Amino acid sequence: MAEITLTNIVKNYGKLEVVHGINLDIAHNEFVVLVGPSGCGKSTTLRMIAGLEDITGGTVSIGDVVVNDLPPRKRNISMVFQNYALYPHMSVRENLGFGLKIAKQDEATIIKRVDEAADILGLDELMDRTPAELSGGQRQRVAMGRAIVRHPEAFLFDEPLSNLDAKLRVQMRTEIKKLHQKVKTTVVYVTHDQVEAMTLADRIVVMKDGYIEQVGTPMDVFNNPVNTFVASFIGSPPMNLLPATIKGKNIVFADDKSLPVPVRLTGLVRDGQEVVFGLRPDDLTPVGHGIAESGDGAKVTLDIVLSELLGTETILYTSIAGQEAQGKMFGPRIVAPGETLEFDVAMDKAHLFDAATGKSVRVE
Ligand SMILES: Nc1ncnc2c1ncn2[C@@H]1O[C@H](COP(=O)(O)OP(=O)(O)OP(=O)(O)O)[C@@H](O)[C@H]1O
Ligand SMILES: [Mg+2]
Repeated sequence: MAEITLTNIVKNYGKLEVVHGINLDIAHNEFVVLVGPSGCGKSTTLRMIAGLEDITGGTVSIGDVVVNDLPPRKRNISMVFQNYALYPHMSVRENLGFGLKIAKQDEATIIKRVDEAADILGLDELMDRTPAELSGGQRQRVAMGRAIVRHPEAFLFDEPLSNLDAKLRVQMRTEIKKLHQKVKTTVVYVTHDQVEAMTLADRIVVMKDGYIEQVGTPMDVFNNPVNTFVASFIGSPPMNLLPATIKGKNIVFADDKSLPVPVRLTGLVRDGQEVVFGLRPDDLTPVGHGIAESGDGAKVTLDIVLSELLGTETILYTSIAGQEAQGKMFGPRIVAPGETLEFDVAMDKAHLFDAATGKSVRVE
């Protein structure tokens, strides 16, 4: 069993603390993605799990064993990095088997495990080529193969796809997901790409400035962000976040336009409270061009500044009280700048955040 438990993990570089006491339980065979902006401590956290960085405070356990003082090779985990550094003079077969050879595995085991990894990753046809004769995606697959042959209890990935072009990245993302379905193991995967996080993860861990902001399933983090940071980081195009004031039962914007407080949040806000109104573009749709009528709806009339036709949908740029906001049109048609449209606002999907703390207003 390879559950991974982080308890009050702290990391200092000299006097500077960059990870501030993180707690996280990763279940056996779970796919967990650490996501957050550059410098938030994702790689540092992953490297502490791998044993590539000393742990300043707290404990890391794999299974029931505290591994703080175990060297990387004794932790029974495999790490796949962004630059996968294959041995250039060795064939794919030799690259795959090299780690096992060094570990003095017998020849029969090496052949068996290498063939098995090649089969899982579809590398059979490429076994006698050298890395120079492979595409970027194929090289990345060999790098994963090297991790698989070791039969680790957990895989750690640090931005494994960031060197690939956009199309290949999407392809490899699917392959990693399939790989996890075939080779059931615990995975900790680091990325700054929220789409990668949403598509791969069983659970997402959103980090910022060395802290965990939120842990949850992709849908949970998407639907119930705990604060404005998570709300703006997860989802593309990002959630509209507009400052407003609560007046009675209304959310009033700077230009005195107003929307009713969502039914589910009435009683949780106070008169005069400064808030940030959050609404995803998907929930601001021209009348007749939305996904479904919501029970708790409202309407606003907005001027279109710009529209971006994406094929099956169109992103509509508009403004609410002088702030840029985006809506979506499903079942698109050409919308000219300057056109005025009436929009449905799905208030049951709208969020309110306290302006002072950034925290979501919700039933605890
Ligand atoms: N060896 C080091 N010495 C000093 N500071 C470091 C060192 N490595 C990382 N840091 C700092 O620790 C913080 C966290 O870095 P980390 O590499 O974990 O970020 P990250 O979330 O992986 O970012 P990215 O998405 O850019 O890879 C950053 O502020 C970084 O500057
Ligand atoms: Mg990093």
